[in-house]
Amino acid sequence: MASSVCLKRCQVKTRAIPQAREMETASMRTGRLLFGVLALTVAILGSAAAQRSDLPAGPNRDVVSRACQACHDLSMVIAATGLSRDGWNATIEEMISYGMRVAPDEREQILNYLSDFLGSTSPPAADK
Ligand code: HEC
Repeated sequence: MASSVCLKRCQVKTRAIPQAREMETASMRTGRLLFGVLALTVAILGSAAAQRSDLPAGPNRDVVSRACQACHDLSMVIAATGLSRDGWNATIEEMISYGMRVAPDEREQILNYLSDFLGSTSPPAADK
């Protein structure tokens, strides 16, 4: 009996100030939105951190690292992951046109590395 009285009184109270309920919903919505933004931020930061600025380990990694970082960050190289061997070959040609200087044997090593580890058939780079 006592509880039903309370329930009634509470209902009356809430009905008396309908805008309070509205406000509560709105602030809850804001809270959810904020939480969503926060979660998104964390996700973006997380993926930025997961986005490697380092090349996957493999033979000739050092050659590639040195040759390509002469002009720009390795993240630019990593961002191009998925190119076919021909694609990487063309990229190397493009970089040579920008002024990259590599010996022919290095060029071969670089192409091998890129198509093997950042190529269209490479497995996704494992985390460090
Ligand atoms: C002589 C300087 C130089 C070197 C060395 C160099 N790059 Fe670049 N690279 C550039 C420039 C300049 C750009 C930017 C072009 C632009 O803004 O469009 C670039 C852009 C890129 C891009 C972005 C896509 C594109 O085609 O513009 C990739 C991928 C890339 N380089 C890969 C490499 C790789 C792999 C190496 C090492 C084998 C390398 N680069 C070495 C100058 C260089």
